Amino acid sequence: MNRLFISVEGIDGAGKSTHIAAMVEALRGSGHTVCQTREPGGTPLAEALREMVLHTPMDALTESLLIFAARRDHISQVIQPALARGAVVVCDRFTDATFAYQGGGHGFDLEVLSRLEQWVQVQPGSALLQPALTLWFDLPAQVAAQRLSGARIPDKFEAQPQAFFENVIAGYARRARLEPQRFVRIHADQPPDGVRAEVLAALRTRGLVTV
Ligand code: TMP
Repeated sequence: MNRLFISVEGIDGAGKSTHIAAMVEALRGSGHTVCQTREPGGTPLAEALREMVLHTPMDALTESLLIFAARRDHISQVIQPALARGAVVVCDRFTDATFAYQGGGHGFDLEVLSRLEQWVQVQPGSALLQPALTLWFDLPAQVAAQRLSGARIPDKFEAQPQAFFENVIAGYARRARLEPQRFVRIHADQPPDGVRAEVLAALRTRGLVTV
C-alpha cells in the first residue's frame, strides 16, 4: 500500500514547489489519482498548528511535539484514507524534515524524534508508515540563500542563517544514508529542465509514470 506514498524534501529555496506541480501532472497523465498535500499541514487542525510552528518562537521539543501532532492528524485524516483508496500521495515534506530541521538544524535529540516517529507513524499490525520514495532536492545552502534573498517576507525557518541550513542538509544526508533504497537525491543546483528530468526518471524507475 505504501508503494504509492511519495515525499519531497529539501532546504528552503531548493525549488520543490515548481517540480511538485509537474510531478502531479505526470502522475495524473499516467492514469493515477493523486492526493497532493504538505507538512506541516494538510488538514484544518494541522494547518492551524503550521501557522504556530512557522511564526511563534518556541523550544525544539515544543516545536517537535506540535509538528508530530499535526502529522498524526494528517496521517489519519488524509494520508491513510488516500492510500487505502489507491491514490498516489505526494507530500511536500514529511518526517525526514523533522529529523533535518529540528534534529539537524536545532540539534534536537534524535532519539526523542525516533520515539515520536514510532508513536505517530505506527500502523496496526504492520510496519511504520513511511514514504516508499523520497525525492531529496539537494543544493548548497549558499545557493538556496541567494535564491531566497528578497523573495518574500521570510518565516521563522527561512530567516535562519546559512549555518543552520548546512546542519539541515547534514540531517537529510544522515537520513538518506540510513535508508538509501527510499531516498533519491535530486541535483537541484541545475537548470529546471535537468531537475525535472531527474524527478521523472525517479518516478519512471519506480513504475509510477510512463512519460
Ligand atoms: P514549506 O515552506 O516547505 O512548506 O515548509 C515549512 C517550513 O517548516 C520549512 O521551513 C521547514 C519547516 N519544517 C520543519 O521545521 N519541520 C518539519 O517537520 C516540517 C515538515 C517542516
